[in-house]
Parts: sequence; structure tokens; C-alpha cells
Amino acid sequence: MALPEEAQIREALSTVIDPELRRNIVELGMVRSVEVKPEGQVDVVVSLTTPGCPIRSHFEQAVAEAVGALDGVTGVAVGFDVLTDEEKGNLQQKLGMGSLPQGALAQVGNVICVASGKGGVGKSTMTANLAAALTGLGKSAGALDCDVYGYSIPRMLGVDEKPLVNGERKILPPESDGGVKTMSIGYFVEDNSAVVWRGPMLHKALQQFLEDVAWGELDYLLLDLPPGTGDIAMTLAQLLPQARVTIVTTPQPAAQTVARRSADMADKVDLEVMGVIENMSGFTTPSGENYSIFGEGGGELLAEELGVPLLGQVPLSEDLRIHADDGTPLVEEQPDSPASEAIIGIARKILASTPQELPMLQSDLPPAPEPPALGENARELPIIQ
Ligand SMILES: Nc1ncnc2c1ncn2[C@@H]1O[C@H](COP(=O)(O)OP(=O)(O)OP(=O)(O)O)[C@@H](O)[C@H]1O
Ligand SMILES: [Mg+2]
Repeated sequence: MALPEEAQIREALSTVIDPELRRNIVELGMVRSVEVKPEGQVDVVVSLTTPGCPIRSHFEQAVAEAVGALDGVTGVAVGFDVLTDEEKGNLQQKLGMGSLPQGALAQVGNVICVASGKGGVGKSTMTANLAAALTGLGKSAGALDCDVYGYSIPRMLGVDEKPLVNGERKILPPESDGGVKTMSIGYFVEDNSAVVWRGPMLHKALQQFLEDVAWGELDYLLLDLPPGTGDIAMTLAQLLPQARVTIVTTPQPAAQTVARRSADMADKVDLEVMGVIENMSGFTTPSGENYSIFGEGGGELLAEELGVPLLGQVPLSEDLRIHADDGTPLVEEQPDSPASEAIIGIARKILASTPQELPMLQSDLPPAPEPPALGENARELPIIQ
């Protein structure tokens, strides 16, 4: 029987799909070599993005099946190596992304950080309500609490379940009633205990939240950043160079110097600032009188200075605060209230200014693999002491 041609083998290999990148391994440049031995034995070497690639056995089986089905093939041996940095760079370009999707984040379309140089300006409130608003607009959204000292996402979105770990050792993010997937250090510590982590531990925790959480397909992942600049921004920039940043500020012009610092930090680590959110802008009494309690014009000023759009102005609202405390986001409970309308308006601007889908989420590509079942091995994660 005639031996199969290399071209035929490559064609067969183009049916093998990388389940994370959702394209075939020939197109992705992951077929390192194909060798046909005289007796019909075929050796294929596949290059992986990382040495410990958990989908190795998937490739092993899929390649053996695809090539083994060809006439004249008597045996298939599948070997692995790792893409060089240059090859990874080419792959990134091909995927049109700033960085390789890592693990579970491969199916996340847009990552948006909510930051501010200052504490207490409403970053967490904005993150929780924007994630809920995006969900309300028909997008899938997640909220990741990057504030390990003052975590607030579980409370603001009213999630009190603990995450489970599935059989593949991925952490499943608990969902809010409105369907926002959440993750927070708060799930792993005893009630209200302080986490005294710094530097490397912090980096590791965030890395785990980005890589080991089964976020699944998400249009938007919103990151609630702790106040200030520093460690977390550096870590995020390293792990997620494609992330974009919104800066929350209050309206008094004097706050701008502080808010600007987070923009400077974003700039330093090469993250794009996508816009400014002015929060606590004005207060309207029940009888309709307006008070500019925290001043006026600060958001506009900062946006101008940074050359980015002012995404919206959210008024002071007691209901916004009450609903955040109750874990029932105002945008879900009272979508017509002025604060909700402002936040939903910001969500619409975010929608309008972000690519709706990354190449890998386009519908002409093969469907996403089923998320791993919980299975018998599901267990709760241990509490960190
Ligand atoms: N527009 C608003 N109207 C009324 N209260 C608000 C508004 N925005 C935020 N708050 C309230 O202000 C407080 C601080 O908000 P939040 O926790 O979201 O700020 P933060 O920037 O995340 O703070 P931290 O820097 O401590 O993480 C909360 O009690 C919140 O409910
Ligand atoms: Mg906060």
C-alpha cells in the first residue's frame, strides 16, 4: 500500500482543534514536524504554548485518531515540545491579541479594570453594578475582586455560596442572582478576617484567580482594583496586557491629582485607559433641588487631561448605597433610577467601544467544549488560615 503524503497528514491534522484557542493546530502553527517512516509509521511533534499544557492528552488522542484513519498508516507516535517565545509572539499576532489567552481566560472577550488612585470613590460599587448592567444588556459578565484587603464584590452582588472545585481542579465562580460570575479572596477567608499578604503572595493569588478559575465564555470580565496604584496593577499588566482601565473619580477638581496617579501607573505598565467615570456627582433632593456636594467638573477635567472619554456621571444616591449593602444591585432592582440610568449608560458606552467578540468567539468556529462536569470529585476549597 502506498505511504501517505505529508500534505495528506497535515490535512488530517487540520481537524485537530486546540480547545482553548479554538482553531486547528495546523493553522495555529503548532505542528512542529511530520515524519513518515517506510513501514507506514508516522511521527508527529506538536508544539504547546506551555510545557505543562493540561490538554496534552487531548492532543495525543486527537492526533493519533486523525492520522491513524489515513490509508497506509500503520502507527502514530505523538511527541511534544514547546513553542519558542518568538513563535508565541507570532501566534498572538495571528489571534489579534496583546497576549496569549491563559488557561481559563481563553474564552474571555474583554477585561476591564476599574481603578482609582483614591479609596472610597465607588470602584467596587461601579464594578458590581456595571457587571450587572452588562448582564442586563444581554452580555455575559464576571466580576473579579482584586482587593484582597477590602474585598467587597461578594457582598455587593449578594453571593454567599462558596466556590467549588471541579474534577479538573478548576475553581467554579459562584454566580449572583442576576447571573454575574464572581470571584473574590473573600470566599477563602473566615468572615471578615484580614488578609496579610504582600508582594509574591498577592501576585500568586491573582494569578490563580485569572488562570485557575473556570470563567468559561464571558464577554466582559470586570476587575475591581484596590485603591492606590502599586503591586496589583503591575501584576495585572504582566498577566493581562490586553486589559483596559476605567478610572473612577469624584467631581471635585482637587481630587484629580490623585486620580491621575492611577492613569500614570496604567501608562507606566502599558495598559490602555479607556475612559473616566465620575461618581458621586451631585445630589438631588426629593423636592428636586440640586447640590454639588463634591464639587463639579472633575470628571470632565480628568478625561480631557487624559484625552479619553468621560463615560458617565453617576449621582449620589442613597438607594445605590443601600442596594450595594444588601447585595441587590440597584441597576437590577431599580433600572429607571437616575443612578442606574447613568451606570447603564456607561455600560452601553463600554459595549460600543470594545470589540464584541474576539476571533475565537466567532460563531463560525467550532463550539466551545462543554465545561467540565462537577463530578464526584467536586469539593469546597479549604479556608485560608
Ligand atoms: N453614587 C453613590 N451614591 C451614594 N453612595 C455611594 C455612591 N457610590 C458609592 N457609594 C457608597 O460609598 C461607599 C464607598 O464605595 P465603594 O466601596 O464602592 O468604594 P471603593 O472605591 O471601592 O472603596 P475602596 O477604595 O475602599 O475599595 C460605599 O458605602 C458605597 O455604597
Ligand atoms: Mg473597593
